[in-house]
Amino acid sequence: MSRTMLSALLCAALSTFASGCGEIPQAHAATSNGNNLSPQMIAEGQRIFRYDTFGDEQQWTDTLRMHEVVQDLDPITALAVGLKVDADALPPGILDGADLGDPAVTVALLKLDAVVGVHAAVDANNRITRLGITCALCHSTVDDAVQPGIGHRLDGWPNRDLDPGRIIALSPAVPPAAKVVYNSWGPGKYDPRFNIDGLNTPLVLPPAYGLLGIRNETYTGDGPVSYWNAYVAVTQMGGHGNFRDPRLGIDIRQSPDMVTSKLPALRAYQLSLRAPASPADDVAAARRGRVVFNDNCIGCHMGYTGTDNNSGRLHGATETGTDGAYAARTVNKAYRTTPLRGLRYHPPYFHDGSAATLDDVVAHYDRVRQLHLTSQQRADLVEFLKTL
Ligand code: HEC
Ligand code: HEC
Repeated sequence: MSRTMLSALLCAALSTFASGCGEIPQAHAATSNGNNLSPQMIAEGQRIFRYDTFGDEQQWTDTLRMHEVVQDLDPITALAVGLKVDADALPPGILDGADLGDPAVTVALLKLDAVVGVHAAVDANNRITRLGITCALCHSTVDDAVQPGIGHRLDGWPNRDLDPGRIIALSPAVPPAAKVVYNSWGPGKYDPRFNIDGLNTPLVLPPAYGLLGIRNETYTGDGPVSYWNAYVAVTQMGGHGNFRDPRLGIDIRQSPDMVTSKLPALRAYQLSLRAPASPADDVAAARRGRVVFNDNCIGCHMGYTGTDNNSGRLHGATETGTDGAYAARTVNKAYRTTPLRGLRYHPPYFHDGSAATLDDVVAHYDRVRQLHLTSQQRADLVEFLKTL
């Protein structure tokens, strides 16, 4: 029996997907699900994830004129809307004595490609001529090693400080009525369908780590990683490429296609991003909490992925007591059981952020699913969730 099979069986026997069991051994990972996860592929995907705009300057520069907005944006204001600075892209000492109230510093940072998720071309007169965004804008943050907002990249971690709506609303090209909607979202949220159906139920930016072994992405399980990557790159970021989904009546074709050929490497990189390790604060409580979890939660949050969606299952909003308005806008009209990974690192929870803390999540389920948990069981369950 192979090591992979053995560890899968052991994990199943222990009915856990906690640390260790979600880890796919390297040899298996290289061909996981038929994906090429070679180091070269992953490195190329990392480059795309961090720096590739897919030609979306057509949206952010030509249409939204964000290059003009950013030209006058000082770093303090940029950090206040949640933009992050990659400390590793900065030559030593460059921030010493820098005036973070001076927009010229923002331009200098862009020249160094140090603003996470924003890629710009700057001319000899320090004017921004083209500007676009990358996947890292919403799905990376930094560890604040230098100061809040400035540090080493954490790819796959959702940027819950980022206020994408407020940033888009800065554009002179956005009509006042749409600005009201964009400004209503708040930090850490984005509505990836507002520009398609005009409705407004923003989603919490999800992590893009811990996806290996998960069949369908998005809160409503719309499709696999590359389906959703193409959707976002073309219909949301405004990338220059193709995306087609007859279920949504979308068929966008732009030549040259700067998206499709990049999807395999981009997928490899995302699948390589593991959820951060989460050691228990209180081992005994977490152990007791696992029992509560197995009794009440594992029917849906099953296996090492923490989701029953790999078998195609979805759940109506009433099953979990969350708001059904977002699901109603999607093809499936129901929610995917969210895989539980790195939970303690990315509050708030549920698609709409309606649970601020893990205590709120547990109190919510206790009420909605009438679990009648004791306060001890609730506290233990939270300790267990913190280890996922
Ligand atoms: C403007 C912010 C934003 C940008 C830029 C963005 N995303 Fe997302 N991403 C989201 C939101 C919001 C969702 C949740 C969508 C849903 O569940 O319906 C999401 C969902 C995802 C998911 C699914 C996670 C899960 O657990 O289901 C992945 C993977 C992902 N994005 C990867 C990417 C990649 C790769 C790119 C670049 C091509 C990208 N995203 C660009 C906001 C963004
Ligand atoms: C009937 C199936 C089902 C059961 C039972 C269930 N869940 Fe869920 N869980 C879901 C679905 C579906 C979602 C996504 C709901 C949403 O976002 O609106 C979810 C989301 C979550 C989230 C949010 C994750 C995130 O990243 O936002 C947590 C945490 C969670 N569940 C924990 C639990 C716990 C703890 C239990 C047991 C007390 C439990 N679930 C029982 C289906 C279930």
